[in-house]
Amino acid sequence: MEASPDSSPADQRWPWWPLLPLYPYGRKRTLVRELIPDQLWSFEQLQGVFYVAVPIRMTVVRVRGGLMLYASAAPTGEVRRALRDLEARFGPVQSIVLPTASGLEHKLPVPPLARAFPQAQVWVTPGQWSFPLSLPLPWLGFPAKRTRVLGEDGFPHGDELQWSSLGPLDLGLGRFQEFACLHKASGALLMTDALVAINQEPPELFNLDPTPLLFHARDRGDQPLIDTPEQRQKGWERLALFASFLRPEALEVPPLSALLARAWHPGCRDPRSYFGIYPFQWASSSTAAFAALQAQAVDRLLVAPVLERLVFPRARPVVVRWLRELSQWEGVRWIVPAHYDAPIPCSPELLGRLAHAFEQRPWAPEDGNWEYLANLDQLLVRTGVVPSEPLE
Ligand SMILES: [Fe+2]
Repeated sequence: MEASPDSSPADQRWPWWPLLPLYPYGRKRTLVRELIPDQLWSFEQLQGVFYVAVPIRMTVVRVRGGLMLYASAAPTGEVRRALRDLEARFGPVQSIVLPTASGLEHKLPVPPLARAFPQAQVWVTPGQWSFPLSLPLPWLGFPAKRTRVLGEDGFPHGDELQWSSLGPLDLGLGRFQEFACLHKASGALLMTDALVAINQEPPELFNLDPTPLLFHARDRGDQPLIDTPEQRQKGWERLALFASFLRPEALEVPPLSALLARAWHPGCRDPRSYFGIYPFQWASSSTAAFAALQAQAVDRLLVAPVLERLVFPRARPVVVRWLRELSQWEGVRWIVPAHYDAPIPCSPELLGRLAHAFEQRPWAPEDGNWEYLANLDQLLVRTGVVPSEPLE
């Protein structure tokens, strides 16, 4: 169901676009995959700017008489066309769900998606916040007359889905909260950010454009982008490390003089290479660091380190309790997170095992690859931006 790129002016007509000049919306490509036949579809896009970019997923769920969109993707022309195809087979988009209070990457596409489907009900997680100013939802482009709040106003498709909240947690600036839901017909447990399964090899999405992988596969800015399977793999491992740790341990920042000397090198004088500017060099094997990251997983599932160290560092009991609650649910066969790989085989027993593993292993470490995140968290605590008390 792959479609051609689309960057028509209508795609970019959304009111807060000028506020987010770095959000790379117009050139976005989308991979559409059927995850579970006639039940669940994945719309994948690359989300992020400059050096840190992660695959993001909107999951389209078949409900009685139509479709539900869980965690939005930017409604480019190819997304709208693929959704119209599904609507022709299964009925209209009935609801659009924003299942997180804090995940900006899932929130930004909701207003334009809601405008593309004016009959759909919009459901948002309570406690939405924006930074630096906390603006009311209508000011952010959410349609006031058809926006409801998850929990407070009930839940969409309540007899076909089972809902559960992780949080809310007080993050100082705002709150963290996300809603998972079990689609009973397929056994798929939909999540946003809480758990991920990082692809061992580059996700299929990068077949549409491997540039981000090739960019990161280089060791220095003056090296050209070379497309080989080995370079794609190396680039993927580094991209995942950037997204997981923001600044992995193996990364060094060269002096400015070296950075400038390598810039504008022949073969790199184009935007694709950022004109040869690459302010990092890898001091040791990124492959070993990637293997260590994957080794943390239990049957492929892990809490993204950036979340564990910056959002949940003092909230392990909350995460464990939530997983135990989910492990009591009947019929869980898959997990479908809003990032990286999906669907991932799952079971109530695995959810219980994950809770146990999180309780037993060191939580939110401070050394090695975790050091940069730990320093960031400690700075936020020291300056009073985030509360320091443990959350039970
Ligand atoms: Fe996310």
